[in-house]
Amino acid sequence: MESMEIAMTTSVLFVCLGNICRSPLAEGAMRRLVEIEAAAVHIDSAGTGDWHIGRAPDPRAQAEALRQGLDISMLRARQVTAEDFHSFDHIVAMDAQNLADLLAMQPDGARARLSRLLDHVGGGDVPDPYYGGDDGFAETFRLVESGARALLQAISGQRATTL
Ligand code: 4NP
Repeated sequence: MESMEIAMTTSVLFVCLGNICRSPLAEGAMRRLVEIEAAAVHIDSAGTGDWHIGRAPDPRAQAEALRQGLDISMLRARQVTAEDFHSFDHIVAMDAQNLADLLAMQPDGARARLSRLLDHVGGGDVPDPYYGGDDGFAETFRLVESGARALLQAISGQRATTL
């Protein structure tokens, strides 16, 4: 019984460049959706780059999260590791460059399925809001939440077909 319960938990790692803007917002949005649906999904986020390791999300991302009723202040940036490709079911990139970087570091025998977040809603990149103004973060949140919603539906659908 215990092993069945473990098998029912799906794990998702959201990945952007710095892990301080887009992927923490995706993590926050997905956490809320998973909570609402009482789904068994383990969620984390990471960056392909190492500049911001250990830092909290960008203050503009935190502010946008709060506007959406989400506290992401406790998240801390980390870099993607080779181990992530073995331990996560899904690694979900924010843009095409993130996906290319992930493919380049993918180790042999990786089990994680790689995708781009907005491929789950018809395609496209979540644009990097880091060098833009505060208003870019509202659009970032809108995009990551719609992608997260579709991803969760896909995960739930996959489970239904394997039951
Ligand atoms: P993120 O945004 O990839 O959405 O976290 C960025 C954060 C920092 C940098 C670039 C993008 N940076 O160059 O430091």
